[in-house]
Amino acid sequence: MPDILRAALIPTDRFTLEPLGVHHAADMVSVLAGTAIYQYIGGQAPTAEELEKRYAAQSIGSSPDGREAWLNWIIREQGRSIGFVQATVETDGATSDVAWVVGEAFQGRGAATEAARAMVTWLRHQQPPVRITASIHPENTASASVARHLGLTPTGRFDEDGEEYWEDSPPTGA
Ligand SMILES: CC(C)(COP(=O)(O)OP(=O)(O)OC[C@H]1O[C@@H](n2cnc3c(N)ncnc32)[C@H](O)[C@@H]1OP(=O)(O)O)[C@@H](O)C(=O)NCCC(=O)NCCS
Repeated sequence: MPDILRAALIPTDRFTLEPLGVHHAADMVSVLAGTAIYQYIGGQAPTAEELEKRYAAQSIGSSPDGREAWLNWIIREQGRSIGFVQATVETDGATSDVAWVVGEAFQGRGAATEAARAMVTWLRHQQPPVRITASIHPENTASASVARHLGLTPTGRFDEDGEEYWEDSPPTGA
């Protein structure tokens, strides 16, 4: 059985992607505050206690049955947290569902694109390479732009929440 993939520190031009720890909860509470972030992804701003619990569970790094690796990174900029990126990797299929969230105050500066690109590049360089998928609400144009920058394309297939599946463009010559 292959080793479970673990998040590593990933530097980008402007940011550092730090593997998630419970200690990140303290400043992520304000990053995840407000209502705008939840317009398309559902849910609501977590309390400090809720976030500590969530981060404690997520930083275990895998599902109890070992079929999924949970990789989460906090996007850090000059000593502060501004958002997160995450990858849920199926250990058998080498496929990963990815997602990104940037705090309202830090949006519109290319942060999601830069952070997600670094994460996806890292995943694609694993052995074996991880194929990328994402689920995006059809009206979430900002998130769709991020996905396009990563080379993902919409599939026309939707999940039960009405989100569209996006995936890596199929290999040519198959
Ligand atoms: C989606 C999200 C992560 C984008 O973060 P960001 O750091 O502002 O994104 P970027 O600055 O990298 O911009 C990405 C693209 O979205 C566009 N964009 C940013 N904000 C936008 C908005 N409010 N409306 C429309 N487009 C927007 C940008 O112009 C850019 O497109 P371009 O590069 O083609 O010009 C952020 O809006 C967010 O956290 N939203 C709430 C959570 C969410 O929906 N996550 C996605 C789950 S799949």
